[in-house]
Amino acid sequence: MLRVHHDELPPLPVTHGNLLDFPADPLACMRKLQQQHGSVAALSQDGAKLYFVFGPELNHQVLSDSQTFHSRFFAIRGSKNSAQRRLTSGLLSMNGEEHKRHRRMVMDAFLKKAIQGYLPAIRLHTEQMLADWQSGKERDISRDMTEFMLRLTSSILFGMDNPDLAYRIGRMIDHWVHLNHELGMGAFISSPEISGRYSELLEFAAELETQIGELIQQRRTTTGGPDVLSMILQAHDEQGSVGPDQLLGQAALIFAAAHLTTAHSLAWTLFLIAQHPSQMAPLHAELRANLSGGFPTLEAAERLPVMERIIKESMRVLPASSYSQRITTQPVQLGPFQLPCAAGVIFSQFITHHLPELYPDPEAFQPERWESLNPSPYAYLPFGAGPRMCIGGPLAMLILKTVVPTILQRFKLTSVPYSEVSGKVISTMLSPTCPIQMRIDPQDGTFEAKPVVGNIHTLVTLTESERRMRRAA
Ligand code: HEM
Repeated sequence: MLRVHHDELPPLPVTHGNLLDFPADPLACMRKLQQQHGSVAALSQDGAKLYFVFGPELNHQVLSDSQTFHSRFFAIRGSKNSAQRRLTSGLLSMNGEEHKRHRRMVMDAFLKKAIQGYLPAIRLHTEQMLADWQSGKERDISRDMTEFMLRLTSSILFGMDNPDLAYRIGRMIDHWVHLNHELGMGAFISSPEISGRYSELLEFAAELETQIGELIQQRRTTTGGPDVLSMILQAHDEQGSVGPDQLLGQAALIFAAAHLTTAHSLAWTLFLIAQHPSQMAPLHAELRANLSGGFPTLEAAERLPVMERIIKESMRVLPASSYSQRITTQPVQLGPFQLPCAAGVIFSQFITHHLPELYPDPEAFQPERWESLNPSPYAYLPFGAGPRMCIGGPLAMLILKTVVPTILQRFKLTSVPYSEVSGKVISTMLSPTCPIQMRIDPQDGTFEAKPVVGNIHTLVTLTESERRMRRAA
């Protein structure tokens, strides 16, 4: 009979350290854990553990089993009858049957037919943004894209008839998300100074609720055009329509999920193109051949293979959504670990997209790799995967595939020499942490990469010497 002694079992892939290392610098912490342990690891402090999965196989287990692995997006739900609780009652924080039902009801607003109706808003806001761009001037592309997405998301979500009100609410949601992030972090690191701002959050949530509530009232009588809120208001199933609390929550959380993720994807894509002139040349030829200078139609946007490969590669190498969290609802085996109920589990798009066994030379920006690559949905997951996959993915792709070509047909973007470009994961998103300064010139089909400084060099290979160093390592 085979006898197994406990001391013969391989040690569990656990790093003993400080749990605060994770929120302090999620990418550095996850990279270290993955390098040390491979596809599954735990960070442990005084018996408390946070678990991590880093490859397609375990991404699949965690993301496809939404019964065992629940989503827990907001750290601060507020008390039962608070505005904070109602505002956080959207898809991102729902689970089980409630999540399934609401996802079905919200989905209509994100199907191809509905998305087509948002094209005029995308076009209008693109034109308004570009009207301010002057050749020969420098611009902060990150700021431009954030402002553009604030306005566009407000219009798509709340309608075009009252853009000022929609925009004001959009800004308020943005501020509310920031407060949630800061306070969530405060709770994580037990900082009394930060968690003392709890009452500020609750007050702000109440004010935001009033504003969104007024807009919902208006929408009950007049539609603002093809907007998400009007469509959710019309949605019904056999159990009735979306209740008032969930309506608030859906509006707030869809806004929160949409605007910065798409803004950062736009900014990173424009930056990466500018740093890779060899990619810009075929893109320029494709845009000239297919678009004749104007804003693309839906059909034209879908027939730009070079653009598509560039966007895919940009979202692989610098994924705006870099990780997400789940929480177990029952004990479960995860790799070598027997997880208890209520264990926190992290999966990471960034780490998965940078695994050399999936993507050779992973830090290199190589759109041409997509000519032959067809990874599984759990190996390439900028929009997540499984039953909670992003419902706004097709809309985000449409925005990227129309806005980037419109900008690049008109303007040549060149990084300002020796400007800083840095990124950090803030509230699960890989966000630029300083302005992305670019010089704007009329598009003339000549392109040049300029040297930049900053931690961007730790995320993506930008120069030949970096490439040589990474290959040698
Ligand atoms: C490039 C832009 C975007 C990226 C990278 C992105 C990424 C993601 C990811 C990774 C998830 C899954 C999170 C998880 O599994 O924990 C997600 C969920 C979600 N996204 Fe997006 N997203 C983007 C744009 C949008 C847009 C434009 C909208 C809506 C207008 C949107 C609405 C949502 C919603 C409502 C969910 C929750 C789905 C659910 O829980 O069932 N996202 N997104």
